[in-house]
Amino acid sequence: MKIKQEELFGAEDVLKEIKKLYKNISYHDELYKEGRPEISDAEYDVLRRRLDSLQEKYPQYSTPPKVGAKPSEKFSKVPHSMPMLSLSNAFSEEDIYEWNARNKKFLGLTSDENINIYVELKIDGLSFSALYKNGKFDLGLTRGDGEIGENITENLATILPERLHGDFPKILEVRGEIYMSHKNFTNLNDSLPEEEKFANPRNAAAGSLRQKDATITASRKLNYFVYGIGECSESLGNTQSDYTRSFVKLGLKTIPFVQTSMSSGRVTPVKHSISELMEFYYNVEQKRKDLDFDIDGLVYKIDRLDYQKRLGEVARAPRWAIAHKFPAEQAITQIESIDIQVGRIGTLTPVARLKPITVGGVVVSNATLHNEDEIRRKDIRVGDTIVIQRAGDVIPQVVSVDVSKRPANSIPYEFPAYCPVCGSHAVREEGEVARRCTGGLLCEAQLVERIRHFVSRGALDIEGLGERQIQAFWDDGLIKNVTDIFSLADKAEIISARQGWGKKSLENLLGAIEKSRDVSLEKFIYALGIRHVGEVTAKLLAREYANARNWFFTMQQLGSDSEKRESLNNIHGIGETVAGSLTDFFAENHNVEIVEQLISLLRIADAKIAMSDSKVAGKTVVFTGTLTRMTRAEAKERAESLGAKVASSVSAQTDFLIAGEEAGSKLKKARELNVAVLSEDEWLELIK
Ligand code: IVH
Repeated sequence: MKIKQEELFGAEDVLKEIKKLYKNISYHDELYKEGRPEISDAEYDVLRRRLDSLQEKYPQYSTPPKVGAKPSEKFSKVPHSMPMLSLSNAFSEEDIYEWNARNKKFLGLTSDENINIYVELKIDGLSFSALYKNGKFDLGLTRGDGEIGENITENLATILPERLHGDFPKILEVRGEIYMSHKNFTNLNDSLPEEEKFANPRNAAAGSLRQKDATITASRKLNYFVYGIGECSESLGNTQSDYTRSFVKLGLKTIPFVQTSMSSGRVTPVKHSISELMEFYYNVEQKRKDLDFDIDGLVYKIDRLDYQKRLGEVARAPRWAIAHKFPAEQAITQIESIDIQVGRIGTLTPVARLKPITVGGVVVSNATLHNEDEIRRKDIRVGDTIVIQRAGDVIPQVVSVDVSKRPANSIPYEFPAYCPVCGSHAVREEGEVARRCTGGLLCEAQLVERIRHFVSRGALDIEGLGERQIQAFWDDGLIKNVTDIFSLADKAEIISARQGWGKKSLENLLGAIEKSRDVSLEKFIYALGIRHVGEVTAKLLAREYANARNWFFTMQQLGSDSEKRESLNNIHGIGETVAGSLTDFFAENHNVEIVEQLISLLRIADAKIAMSDSKVAGKTVVFTGTLTRMTRAEAKERAESLGAKVASSVSAQTDFLIAGEEAGSKLKKARELNVAVLSEDEWLELIK
């Protein structure tokens, strides 16, 4: 007998895995909601399926933490009248047979008694709930985390009918899906600048629905289908098909029924056997590409509501319904070129430019190639005929190469060793998949991010120069690299003519820039944004090399002088990675030039005396009372920078007690223990 993996697990391992899956799924839900998913639908489904299967086997763990995106702060939160559940997924015929058998067993039916199944397209959009009171649209919510949704009434009002038709119940909450048609998606993307384009219709729908300004939602031409109900004051029938008939009568849009060879003539596609379902599934899969909206599978629902009620739910999904997913859509096209994109922090990402092709109704002209290993592994070349896949929520990927169609003169793709934007070396660190540009201070692709870091709090700390302002100065050509910040004063007139700059705010900014010229060596080093050189490392470097020129001079020699490199490696806390990164950075002439210019533009204070030279290195000190010439935080920082350990209470181990005004019990204790007591001035004299 085969033992399943989880049977070998202890209960603790199962719980741990479930928690990890919950966390992971919530993380991806959040990204998905923000329209920047990191994994494909298929990958997401693998996570969901694993969670579902574990929870089914271990029902004791099937209670929340909840899965689903947390409601955001942007919209007010409203609890759902009853939870908005999700669906379990099936990927194979076998899964569906098992589901059906389980249901029959649960309901006590014999294997030859068939259950009618209502079949619907699974719309790849965003679920919503809409409450109608006395036939009038009253409240619209997103799914949120299933328990609490976000109030998007105003946005939904631009999509849903304001009033129900005919004989409506007093209270009716309908649930359904918001989506964007392929046609509207293409038009929308055509009207947006490159960096604002959406990856697919679902992201476009999400981005358009969750707008604070509902007129934007209205302009995006979203659409909806209803598929179910929440709260309802009257019965709408005895079956799921009855619901759909009621929705039609009430003037609501229901999910269109796909005509297939086996379903023509029926009002709703109720299926009586699983083989019928399967035939329908394969038929729809064929016709999927002709639809004007994305679907990612079919939803099978047990038609009889009394059965639905008896079956209930498990792990926040109904037992009576299941999603039968379609595999990701694929198409064949050719690679016209391979471009390298440089990200904000210098990562080089290869992108295949494709002969445009329609995949599931959406025109695709780019595919991600991930990184150089992926290109090598699949031997992807310019001119190749390839199979691409659009997995719903991500940029299309290359599935395989048809080597038989490869042009005779084709050559393997060679990943560039230089940044295509600035020409600096692109290096790949050990254990990393990505190559990165080393021209940080010059590379246009990275500049906005670099400048943002340069002026950030732990660095030059220039208030009033946020990302938005930097981007605007950059767009206007006022800042081309970090050194240009210090000539902004010469451009004051141009800036003040720009929107958003009053006299006072500009004065403040220029004042903050002027002030930032006085900077410590460690902050200056940190500000350069050299990879792996964070605040702690910058401090270590500053202490070792003491002044800017000395440091700068040594850094330039790292590549050629092994002694210098060794001295760097010998600094406690600095390893090969940092040393390698500094060597790469200073191997680039542009970086050297800019650091040189900065050193002359700024007034960089020498670092505090190297610890070992200080009289207090290795000593334990305690501060007490009110200090008059510095704050307690300053005193602590200064003492530590000289290698002293600052303790909060006096003991036999204390070397010095620095007593400010009105010192109390600590002073008394120090005297009792014969600890050396210094006044603030004596202390300053000692560390001078
Ligand atoms: S029924 C209690 N029917 O799929 C179950 N859901 O993956 C309610 N969806 O959150 C869902 N088309 O937003 C149902 N025809 C359909 C659907 C559908 C799309 C969405 C729904 C749900 C998600 C689960």
